[in-house]
Amino acid sequence: MQGQNNDLFLSILAILGFVISFANAEIHHHEFVVEAKPVKRLCRTHNIITVNGKFPGPILTVRNGDTLVIKVLNRARYNVTLHWHGIRQLRTPWADGPEYVTQCPIQPGASYTYRFTIEDQEGTLWWHAHSKWLRATVYGALAILPKQGSLYPFRQPNHEVPLILGEWWDRDIISVLRQAIFTGAAPNASDAYTINGQPGDVYRCSNKGTFRVSVNSGETVLLRVINAALNQQLFFTVANHQLTVVGVDAIYHKPFATRVIMLGPGQTTDVLLTANQQPARYYMAARAYASARGVPFDNTTTTGILEYKTAKGGSSSAARPLLPRLPAFNDTATATAFENQLRSIPSEAAKVPNNIDHSLFFTVGLGFVNCNPGPRCQGPNNTRFAASMNNVSFVLPRTSLLQAYYNNIPGIFTTDFPPVPPVQFNYTGNVPRSLWQPRFGTKLYKLSFGSTVQIVLQDTGIFVTEDHPIHLHGYHFFIVGQGFGNFNPQTDPARFNLVDPPVRNTIDVPVGGWAVIRFVADNPGVWLFHCHIDAHLTWGLGMAFLVENGKGELQTVEPPPADLPQC
Ligand code: C2O
Repeated sequence: MQGQNNDLFLSILAILGFVISFANAEIHHHEFVVEAKPVKRLCRTHNIITVNGKFPGPILTVRNGDTLVIKVLNRARYNVTLHWHGIRQLRTPWADGPEYVTQCPIQPGASYTYRFTIEDQEGTLWWHAHSKWLRATVYGALAILPKQGSLYPFRQPNHEVPLILGEWWDRDIISVLRQAIFTGAAPNASDAYTINGQPGDVYRCSNKGTFRVSVNSGETVLLRVINAALNQQLFFTVANHQLTVVGVDAIYHKPFATRVIMLGPGQTTDVLLTANQQPARYYMAARAYASARGVPFDNTTTTGILEYKTAKGGSSSAARPLLPRLPAFNDTATATAFENQLRSIPSEAAKVPNNIDHSLFFTVGLGFVNCNPGPRCQGPNNTRFAASMNNVSFVLPRTSLLQAYYNNIPGIFTTDFPPVPPVQFNYTGNVPRSLWQPRFGTKLYKLSFGSTVQIVLQDTGIFVTEDHPIHLHGYHFFIVGQGFGNFNPQTDPARFNLVDPPVRNTIDVPVGGWAVIRFVADNPGVWLFHCHIDAHLTWGLGMAFLVENGKGELQTVEPPPADLPQC
């Protein structure tokens, strides 16, 4: 009797504690209708896929600790899934979203509700379609504010503005993809870049919609810059104004000032801008950082306008805004100098793992499949483009990996992804043609829950060296080292930064170089690890980790939602 009363008392206390600690957290309900919508850009109208008819899609603004419940109704003619890029999805891998990895696609006419809670993440993330190339137009910003009652760890801005950088094709994006898949050649480059869906003044028929940020002299604006481009790293700058970086990928970092920032697709950067210049109008601009030599790319510049409300003549002023100087498209030195300034804050830095349980080495790069001359072999020298990690070109299965694992469906994947390349070679040198052809497979690498992981990511010179933005779902990781050429296991570890390494969910592996990341495998599930250039992912530049407890169980993971789509 006594014992039972005690138990009751304790559980009431526990419930009270739970209620109090979550009293300030909110649950946000949204309905996202995926539907076609005619949108005019560059003088022509295309029927693009959108969410709720908006392009870019709705901005989600939440607080750290809040829960999102998003019902997605698919009224488009394509299968679709949505991914909440950078959200850790602790206990809720079913809500992560990559098609055939954590779920089957939502078919036309069907719906699925994503439910997840944001835990210890603040800053800027974004959401996007994770199905074919629909993310070309299906994306939006996700701003995570500090918990109720807490402040930013930097000067409180007067305004906050998401700036989502995108890429626009003057064609139907699915037909661009289909053509590339059919011919085996590289896909067409885009026709414009965009800031919040608008190409800006410099392009034809684009004057009107140009995105503007209005400020009073002396005000500070928090710009939440997101690279949502399908296939391109971008430089971003604002004429005459300094940018103070305060966070990346929804993790605060030590502030530093810079003129220009570089973002790989998938990455976000929070910068403070203070309106401390002559009251006037200034262009903000983005253009490509294109590191692959001799490879065609979209060499145009998108602009928005920063306008001081007190500027003479105001926004109607006939004077053209001042254009900033942007780095050259191949300015690797500027990209590197920018990234080298990123440093984590002490509370993050304290978590860098020191003893490594899984020491992995993955090559990342392109490859080719030899085939017979013809319409389907229009890659270089009668080939089809491919791409791989450790010579495995990733093939999406017919059902989702997480569902196959959870339900013990055999024959969908194997867990023999190689921890090191099958052949060692001079990775960034002149690679012999015999090593250009990858193998195809759906291979996972198993990590035991709680173990520590280090991955050396090594770019290859197969066809061409190139900067690859590699994204890990379900995690963020420390970047303990980066460099050019081949990683040297004898000398490079001595130069690792284990003191205040940057923390991200997407790492730009330097062109013709390497990067080393570390994390603790504390999130059970199946997590895609891939190049965020969609052309490369389509060619197979990815793999997936299975994080479980060694007994074939995903401990702490919630059961699959009842409306989880089936294949
Ligand atoms: Cu931004 Cu696999 O995703």
